[in-house]
This record gives sequence, C-alpha cells and structure tokens, in this order.
Amino acid sequence: MLRTRTQVGIVGAGPAGLLLSHLLALRGIDSVLIEIRSRAYCEARQRAGVLEDGSVALLREAGLAARLDRQGLQHGGIYLQFGGERHHVDFRELTGGRTVTVYAQTEVVKDLIARRLADVGNDAIAFSVTGTAVSGLDTDRPRLSYTDARGVRHEVECEAIAGCDGFHGICRQAIPAGLLTTWERDYPYAWLGILADVPPSTDELIYAHHRAGFALHSLRSPSISRLYLQVAPETDLRDWPDDRVWAELSRRFELPGWTLDRGPVLDKGITPMRSFVSAPMRYGRMFLAGDAAHIVPPTGAKGLNLALADVAVLAPALDALLHGDDKPAAAYSATCLDRVWRSTHFSWWMTTMLHRSPGADEMEAQLQLSQLRYVVSSTAAATSLAENYTGFAVQPAAAGQLHRTRSERGC
Ligand code: FAD
Ligand code: PHB
Repeated sequence: MLRTRTQVGIVGAGPAGLLLSHLLALRGIDSVLIEIRSRAYCEARQRAGVLEDGSVALLREAGLAARLDRQGLQHGGIYLQFGGERHHVDFRELTGGRTVTVYAQTEVVKDLIARRLADVGNDAIAFSVTGTAVSGLDTDRPRLSYTDARGVRHEVECEAIAGCDGFHGICRQAIPAGLLTTWERDYPYAWLGILADVPPSTDELIYAHHRAGFALHSLRSPSISRLYLQVAPETDLRDWPDDRVWAELSRRFELPGWTLDRGPVLDKGITPMRSFVSAPMRYGRMFLAGDAAHIVPPTGAKGLNLALADVAVLAPALDALLHGDDKPAAAYSATCLDRVWRSTHFSWWMTTMLHRSPGADEMEAQLQLSQLRYVVSSTAAATSLAENYTGFAVQPAAAGQLHRTRSERGC
C-alpha cells in the first residue's frame, strides 16, 4: 500500500472532474484525479454536443478554449418541426444576442486531458484504476483509495474529496442512507443515436415532433452529423441496421423540398432517458458534482453544462474551505441546486413536449401540438425556451475569479 497526501481527491475524469482539477490548479491547489476507464475510452465516449454561452466563457477564462474558439460552431437558434412544418426559434433576436456553441463533449474532454498532462505530466490523471473507495468523509482528513493500472494499491489522505464519478459512481452511494433525498423519473422511451460521416443537412439543430416519435438532427462539425431517434427503452441495436435508421430518420424529418443526406455510420448507441436529483450535494468533506448528483434527459442539452457549472462553484468553495472558511462550501449545494432544478424542469418540459409516450391517446398529441404552436407564435413563450436553452450566467464569483491573486494566496 502506497500512502500519499493531496489537498483534493477527485473521483472521475469526465468533464466535471477534469475541469475541477484544472480550476483548483489555477488557484494553487493540488489534487489527485483518478478514473476507472482508459484515456482512449474517455476521449471517444459519444455524448453531448452543445455548450451554453456561460460554459464557453468559463472554458475561455480558464485558458481552455483555444481549439473551441477555432472549431466550435456558434448557433443562434434551433428548428422546431411539427405538423408537417419547420419553424425557426431565433435565440439571438429573442435574448439580445445569446447563442450556443456546437462543440462535442469528446473534444472538451480531449482538451482538458491534454492540458492537465501538459501542466503536470503523465501522473496528472490515474487512468484505468480499480477498487475505488472513499472513507472518513465526516472527518477533516477523508481518504481516497484505489488500485492503479500496475496493480499498486494507493491510499491518499485528502483535505476534501470531489465525487465527479457520474450517475453510476461510488461517491453518492458512500453517503449514509437516510441523509440524501432523491427525486427520480424514468421516461418510457430511449434515444438511438448515430454519428455519421456526412455533412449535416441543416444549418441549425432540428427537434422534430412526429407521430412515430421524436427525432433530433444535430452535428459535430461541417462534415459530421449526429442524429437521434426516439425508440423503446428495451430496443436491441441489432434490430436497427443502418438502412432502417436512415429510413426512419427521413420519415420523421420529412418536409417537401428537403432531403436528409445519408453517409457511413461511425457510431451507434442507445441512451436511456431519466431525470434524477439528489440533495444535498455535500456530505462532510465530500462534494458531489455533475451527473454524480443529477441527471437530465438530453432533450434540453443541459447535462454537460450543469457539470461544468457545478465545478465553477465548487473550486472557489473548496479554496475557501481549505483556508478555513466553510461559508461558500456550506452554500455549495443550494447554489448549484437552484440551476439544477431549472434545467431539470426545462429538460422535462422539452422531453414531454416532443416525445410520444407509448399508449398515449390523441389528447396528448393535441396538447403537445398546441404547446408547440404557442412556442413558435408567442414571443413570450419563444423567449422562455430561448433563455433556458442558451442558459443562465455561471456563478459570477466563480467565472470572474478563476485565479486567486498573489495577495489572496498570501504571497
Ligand atoms: P461523466 O461524464 O459521466 O464522468 C464521470 C467519470 O467518472 C467517467 O469518466 C467514469 O468512467 C468515471 N467513474 C465512474 N465510476 C468511477 C470510479 N468508481 N472510480 C473512478 N472513476 C469513476 N449534456 C449537454 O450539456 N448537452 C448535450 O447536448 C448533451 N447530450 C447528451 C447526449 C447523450 C447521448 C448523452 C448520453 C448525454 C448527453 N448529455 C448532454 C449529458 C452529458 O454527457 C453528461 O451530463 C456529462 O457527461 C456529465 O459529466 P460528468 O463529468 O458529471 O460525468
Ligand atoms: C448532441 O449533439 O449530441 C445533442 C444536441 C442537442 C441535444 C442533445 C444532444 O438536445
């Protein structure tokens, strides 16, 4: 057993854990970051694609946006398609210029990993660990234990632990039963997603309501498309050869004079749909961030943005805690949950407005269509969608003060 020390032990090298380790480093705080998967797996895992303005500003301010600024695609709206028509919702016009940026989560993760390795060296992240455990969470010196890729067992004494280990991680489960309140909703459908080697057939994302089920046309770059189909949760991918996926996508996006271009499918997967919130996001000296504490269905494009926003609040809170001030850490959970619940509601609203529930009657379809018609015809309703989709400012104290000044650090 190798015993070492650090200031903050971070479990999980997804967007939340990676950004947190970088934000802490900007404040002169050491961390140990461990990840159960390999680097290649983390960099290839297909997930989110849309960044809010606040997330872009945060990454820029943290010095992480060189490639994002070159390759990110700014989008000033989305299309809502229903009842045989496609309507544009213009975010710029409705919100005084706000936009979102299409830049894949895989690229955010690659940029973050590259930066940590460049700043700290190959030891910055322990990939492919096993047997992760956390203990002593209600003491001043919680411990993080794991076995590294060479089989060496480590015990790291920390001043705080960040559970950034996603929905299925071990950190939330380490909180004693009865101290957490959870809210959960499983939806009776899933998304079948494909990544395709073909230029997008649209200039902005299309969210399509169709009697056969929801479909989404997104993209990764000017030459790569990302598309999703609502399917049953128990769907077997073997029943969905590429031709069937393309035919169903063409049917759900059908519009006179418009065609969906097809290309080789590079990746295909199924994503379950769930809303989940657990509170509080702190137990003793362990703090949960990102999917470890909350999950939203992907319809609102919020999960990645929530994960980044959490750690923007957590980094200064940990800094203060390590310097003897518990106040920001005490406020961490409530501060984050405010945004989390707003995004949870928005994602639920988008999801239920656009998907067809199995066995739903004609009443549900008519209510959805009425809501959609209202969104595209009322400036008030469209503005509500636009301001939620483009997102709210990331905690100013977090975004504006990423670096501690020398005098704050006592230099
Ligand atoms: P994760 O990315 O889940 O990272 C957690 C990490 O912890 C993982 O690398 C995991 O391997 C590791 N880990 C787990 N257990 C352990 C352990 N015991 N020890 C060590 N490491 C461990 N969000 C958006 O904002 N916009 C979108 O457009 C969007 N689209 C999506 C589309 C799809 C198909 C999916 C699936 C998700 C989408 N999301 C979207 C959600 C977004 O991908 C997640 O919310 C985001 O990944 C959360 O980041 P995280 O760092 O909290 O968790
Ligand atoms: C994506 O590009 O993967 C994506 C975009 C918007 C969403 C969900 C996923 O709402």
